[in-house]
Amino acid sequence: MSSQINDSFHEFASRGCSDLLRDLTACLGVNFQIWNTNGKVIFETGKSASVTTDITNPNKEQIWAPLQVNGEQVGCLVAHSAKPVLCSLVTSLAGQISSLYSMEQDLDRLTEQLAQSYDEINLLYSFNRTVKPDVTFTEAANELLTESADFLEERWLSLFVPEMECHLGCPGISLEEDDPVVAVANSNAIFNSIFEDLLPVAKEAGSLAPVRHTGTVDGDNGQIFYIVIPIRIREIVSGFVGMFSSNPDNPYETGEVRLLECLSEEVTKAATTRELYHELQEMLFNTVKGLVAAIDAKDEYTRGHSERVYRYSMLIGERLGIEGDELQDLSWSALLHDVGKIAIARSILNKPGRLTDEEFDTIKTHPVKGCKVLEPITQLEHVLPNIRHHHERFDGRGYPDGIEGEAIPFIARIIAVADTFDAISSSRAYRSAQTLDYAISELRKGAGTQFDPKISSVMLDLLAEGEIARVADDDDAKAA
Ligand SMILES: [Fe+2]
Repeated sequence: MSSQINDSFHEFASRGCSDLLRDLTACLGVNFQIWNTNGKVIFETGKSASVTTDITNPNKEQIWAPLQVNGEQVGCLVAHSAKPVLCSLVTSLAGQISSLYSMEQDLDRLTEQLAQSYDEINLLYSFNRTVKPDVTFTEAANELLTESADFLEERWLSLFVPEMECHLGCPGISLEEDDPVVAVANSNAIFNSIFEDLLPVAKEAGSLAPVRHTGTVDGDNGQIFYIVIPIRIREIVSGFVGMFSSNPDNPYETGEVRLLECLSEEVTKAATTRELYHELQEMLFNTVKGLVAAIDAKDEYTRGHSERVYRYSMLIGERLGIEGDELQDLSWSALLHDVGKIAIARSILNKPGRLTDEEFDTIKTHPVKGCKVLEPITQLEHVLPNIRHHHERFDGRGYPDGIEGEAIPFIARIIAVADTFDAISSSRAYRSAQTLDYAISELRKGAGTQFDPKISSVMLDLLAEGEIARVADDDDAKAA
């Protein structure tokens, strides 16, 4: 019998049936004792002279009846009397006490299960708030891990998804700093090597991969027990969540395994949501690219202009260290910067000769008209200033608002450089394409007046390195 049952039976014997046995002692004048399986008296209604401590060899002055739960003996009921008439009473009493104890055990289990279910519901509720498409996978995974760790005590949680570059760890509440698991977790190498060893095997096994792995590893200050559950992204094992503990008596409980399973499911959901979100974004972006190309085609000399400006702008942006949401804003802004040309007459856009002042004023309305076209799309609301200001000059002599320097949105200043370079280096209705040297000299000349000097300098670096030529060559190949 485990020490846990022993403790709970001891506690029950001195509380759960004490009143009943004391009443019987008062009525019958017979003392009762409850013994545990080690022959120790754990409850008695009065001292008796003739007591044996040998459970297998009862005294003739005593009546014995075993106390059993689910077929397992947990102790004995002893009545200090030799009256045979009491035999059936003691046997029946032992049966009642056994049933009471068994019911109490069931109730405890049920209460524990209910508490776990409550924890699970709470956790799932917080998970639902966590999984959103507009956060990175690592941010979502980190939040899921932290939420889960709040439901664990002396445990360490780890998450490993190499294809997302995501290796995270989180202590459960009340995990002491000197717990052996903390030292191992802080070095991270042992946990990662468990995951790294399991991953190829699990990938190879595919749908036959085990739903969980358990084992032990040696830490500096003792053995560490682990349970690891795979994360499947689109049916492929792509990583794991693991729970680590240094407690040999209780390395993990059923409720904790369930929680780990929930965590694995939610991480999978976060990864899948993210993938679908990106696919959708890409599809939308490609559709818009097609539409923009159709608008560019309205002006026969600017075919492919928007896509080239988008690609040059991305090269500049990446070189300037832009990433994440800002880089995405740059891509949309650059691709859509000239969308307002849809509202300019084809006869003006394609006019071979010099434009009149009036015609030029009409052309100059395209940044504002572009914003008008895009205004109904609320998701693009924050990129509108970049489109409105892509013809501003760094010295304030641009249009439509004549703002200057850093008052011009950073992304608009990038587009201004990419846009001007493409305008110079490709043919226009009123002139042929200029040479690369001429375009470079114009970029140098415009630094600090037309362009933000930091940005035109990056563009000159990219030109010198041949990066821009590669985009242009690629574009020519497509056109051919
Ligand atoms: Fe423009």
